[in-house]
Amino acid sequence: MSTDQAPIAILSALPQEQEGLAHAVAGLQTVRRAGRDYGVGVLDGQPVVLALSRIGKVAAATTTATLLEHFGARAVVFTGVAGGVGADVAVGDVVVASGFVQHDMDASPLFPRFEIPLTGTSVQAVDPDWSQRLLEQSRLALAGHTFAGRASRVHQGLIATGDRFVCSADEARALVQRLEAAGHGALAVEMEGAAVAQVCNDYGVPMAAVRTISDRADDTAHVDFPQFVDAVARVYANAIIRGLLQSL
Ligand code: ADE
Repeated sequence: MSTDQAPIAILSALPQEQEGLAHAVAGLQTVRRAGRDYGVGVLDGQPVVLALSRIGKVAAATTTATLLEHFGARAVVFTGVAGGVGADVAVGDVVVASGFVQHDMDASPLFPRFEIPLTGTSVQAVDPDWSQRLLEQSRLALAGHTFAGRASRVHQGLIATGDRFVCSADEARALVQRLEAAGHGALAVEMEGAAVAQVCNDYGVPMAAVRTISDRADDTAHVDFPQFVDAVARVYANAIIRGLLQSL
């Protein structure tokens, strides 16, 4: 037990992704700040604060800054869903982020495409130790699981973030090609990770993220999305986060 420590922040975009976790938190207290509810308590012997980023980069940055400034989180772990854009990344797989790029950042010709102005970098780093723990727990959580008759796999790689739900095969292909032309091979797309990582890097707080692939960012991306979150992503997120906390 190390409940006198600063909390570990568990962040997701959608409420369904955290339902199981919130029920398991001992002494759960809800603190409201900047229009968001933060769930403070103890989970598996670790002080935690559960929060929802909401959707998109700005919303995620607000939640993350509050987690760090107000709650003094010592690490931020993001769990959620993403669209798979890597060739062998299928629905039901999991991607642990090795870094994040903002696929909609473009201040060219002032700065190179994808570079965050005045930082000299396009890729937001994640914390290697927390990411390694997430990788190990993801492998344990997915062992023996199948989706649509195929064994679910754990990948580690770059995740591309932007303020778009990508739901066209043509758009996904073009996005991947643009990133590849700049040397960024992305496995998945989502809407918050790069913002969370950037805020955490600004504050020098470790961040790691895991995303379950809910769709292929193509023309059927929106189909069965809520059902997938409920039936698959929530279950994986629960197992991975509980495993992570118990391993500390
Ligand atoms: N999150 C889950 N699927 C996504 C997609 N296709 N685009 C952006 N964010 C997502």
